[in-house]
Amino acid sequence: MEDGTLAGAINKMFGNRKLVGVADYPCPICGGPMYCFKESKMYKDGHPKYACPNTDCKYKEGSDDKIVRSVLTPEQLTMSSVRSNAIRYMKHNSVISNTGMWSKRFSDFIASNEVEQNVYNKSQAFVKQIVAGGTNHMIMSGETGVGKSHLAMSILWEYLRQTNYGKRVTITDSAGRKYSSPTARHVLYCNFRDLLELLKQGINDKATGSMMTQVINELKVAELVVIDDLGAELANRDVASPYAMDQALSIFEARQNKPTVITTNLHKNDIVNAYDARIWSRLTENSKGFILTFKGIDDHRQMEGV
Ligand SMILES: Nc1ncnc2c1ncn2[C@@H]1O[C@H](COP(=O)(O)OP(=O)(O)OP(=O)(O)O)[C@@H](O)[C@H]1O
Ligand SMILES: [Mg+2]
Ligand SMILES: [Zn+2]
Repeated sequence: MEDGTLAGAINKMFGNRKLVGVADYPCPICGGPMYCFKESKMYKDGHPKYACPNTDCKYKEGSDDKIVRSVLTPEQLTMSSVRSNAIRYMKHNSVISNTGMWSKRFSDFIASNEVEQNVYNKSQAFVKQIVAGGTNHMIMSGETGVGKSHLAMSILWEYLRQTNYGKRVTITDSAGRKYSSPTARHVLYCNFRDLLELLKQGINDKATGSMMTQVINELKVAELVVIDDLGAELANRDVASPYAMDQALSIFEARQNKPTVITTNLHKNDIVNAYDARIWSRLTENSKGFILTFKGIDDHRQMEGV
């Protein structure tokens, strides 16, 4: 079936095999795009094992890693592993039930009026600021379907791209020698409502509980975090237990001076009333110039019929 999407076109090209995912990084041998077609072709952590469809190359992740080691320079190898680690970290520790969001990029955001152009420009400027070492916060507020989550996701990918997915850290070996080694950037996407739901589940379910302790810790220390849909849980008052809410709010405390993007349907007054004035002041302290109001944009979900 031709549905006009890239995934649809690719499926058609490969004889309608079920496409699980397109890699966010190129084939390490030929530089072409890589795909995964079978649910069974997954790493233990659920990340797909991609393969290159180029008939001169046919590189398969996992099984052909030896070939890669013989073809790539040590620098290219390190770069490729840093990139995979950054993406794996992000996909493994993010809290996101709508996995369709992973594909959103600045490149497919269409700015068809002044407001959209403005929120797009500000989002790009935010990335620039964070890449330069800024600890800014960004708050995106607006009605449903106006592109907040799309831009928030784009910010994560663009930050990874502009930093080459990595940074250099100083490591001390057992003999006390110090050397600089590249390591993956850590960025996370967290849907606030999903987070509260999982935290609540974790109270009675040990496995979920310990997984969530890990996730909360990562959300506190990651270099860049998106908290998506703050306040969506308020529509269903029942969703958060006080314990889950406390846990979730402790993230904001930890991220006061760390780059963070928050999207919300709420207005400032609603946030102050719903949580605590202190939360709002923590959120806004670092967000000068980066409070975006998505006013005057139509609901894209209605427009696309999605
Ligand atoms: N300017 C745009 N260009 C291209 N696609 C867009 C644009 N704005 C929104 N979309 C698409 O419309 C859909 C809804 O957008 P998005 O999920 O970002 O909305 P939202 O503001 O986060 O809404 P909600 O408050 O309901 O979460 C997504 O599929 C998104 O990719
Ligand atoms: Mg959204
Ligand atoms: Zn290839």
